[in-house]
Amino acid sequence: MLERIGLPLLRQIDPERAHGLALKGVRMGLAPKADPFVSERLEVDLCGLRLQNPLGLAAGFDKNATALAGLSQAGFGFLEVGAATPRPQPGNPRPRLFRLKEDRAAINRFGFNNDGMEMIAQRLKAHHATIPVGLNLGANKDSTDRAADYAKVLTRCAAECDFVTINVSSPNTESLRDLQGKDALTALISNVLEARAKLDCWVPVFVKIAPDLTDAEVADVADAARQTGIDGLIATNTTISREGLRSTHRGETGGLSGAPLRDASTRVLAKLFAATEGTLPIIGVGGIASAEDAYAKVCAGATALQLYTALAYEGLGLVPRILHGLDAILEERGQTMTSARGTAAPDWL
Ligand code: FNR
Repeated sequence: MLERIGLPLLRQIDPERAHGLALKGVRMGLAPKADPFVSERLEVDLCGLRLQNPLGLAAGFDKNATALAGLSQAGFGFLEVGAATPRPQPGNPRPRLFRLKEDRAAINRFGFNNDGMEMIAQRLKAHHATIPVGLNLGANKDSTDRAADYAKVLTRCAAECDFVTINVSSPNTESLRDLQGKDALTALISNVLEARAKLDCWVPVFVKIAPDLTDAEVADVADAARQTGIDGLIATNTTISREGLRSTHRGETGGLSGAPLRDASTRVLAKLFAATEGTLPIIGVGGIASAEDAYAKVCAGATALQLYTALAYEGLGLVPRILHGLDAILEERGQTMTSARGTAAPDWL
C-alpha cells in the first residue's frame, strides 16, 4: 500500500534524491517485507553459498551498505553492496542519474561515489546477516594503481562479507573497462586471488563484465577465468549502447540499465556459459523485470540472478512477485533452477 502511494510521488522528483529517500524508507522499515519464499525448486548453491532463492540485489543500489537490515527482509536470496573503493570519493557532478520512463530504463554516471572501504567494512561487520551479502570492489578515480585497489578493498573487507566482485565493467570511470582485456584481466584477477590467499578467511571472487564485449572479448574473459581459477562471473553491467531508445534523456552519457539492456546482457551470459562449458557459476543481471525475464536468463545459463532498475519502477514488492512467478514456471515445466540452467543457451549464440 505504502509503495503504491510512495512510488508515484518519488517518480516526480529528481531521481538521485528519490533513490536517497527510498533507501531512507528502507532503513526506517517502511519497505514491504516478504516472508522468505521457500521452494526446493528455487534453491541454489552459488560457490558454496546456500541461497534459499536465486534472486539478488545488484550492486549500486545500496552503495554504502546503509540499508542492509531492511533489504534483507524484502525477499531477496542475497544482496550485493558497493562499489567500495579504498578511499571515499564523491563521484561525478550532479545530475548523474536519469530516468528513461518510456524505455523502462535508467542512465547513470555516478562514477563510484562511496564512503570508502573503511566505513563500509564497519557497516558490514555491524550487520547481522540472514542472507549472504557480497561486496562490489571498485578503484579510486585518481588511483595510480587501479589494479592494486581491488586487492586493497578485498583485504580490508573479505572477513565482513560472503563474496566479492571485481567490477571492471563500469563505464563511468575512464579506462576502467580496459582492465577487461585478456592480459590485464588475468593479471588483475591473479593479484586479487593472491591477496585472498594471504587472508585467514576465504570468500568466492566473481568478475563482473560489460555487455558490450565482442565475441572475441567474451572468449578472452572465459580464458582468463579458466587460467586464474576465478570462482564465478557476473553478466552484465550497464551498456554504453543507446539502440532503440525513445526517452528524452537517451543522449546522456553513462551506463544504460533496465529493459533495453535485457537481451544484449542475456546474449553475453549465454556466450559465457558456452565458452566456459557450464563449469563456472554465472550471475545473470540486466533488464530483469518479470518472472519470464528471470527464467530466460536461467535457461541462457544463469546460476543466480540480480536486478536493480526494475525496482525503481515497480518497488521492492517486485521481488516476491518474480520469485512466485519463477517457481510457478519451473513447476509447470517439471524443472528446478539447476535442471533448467543453460537449456536454451544455444538459442542465444
Ligand atoms: C549500477 N550498477 C553497478 N554495478 C556495479 O558493479 N557497481 C556499481 O557500483 C554499480 N552502480 C550502479 C548504479 C546505478 C544507479 C545503476 C542503475 C546501476 C549496475 C547494476 O549492478 C546492474 O549490473 C545493471 O544496472 C543491470 O541491471 P538492471 O538494473 O537492468 O536490473
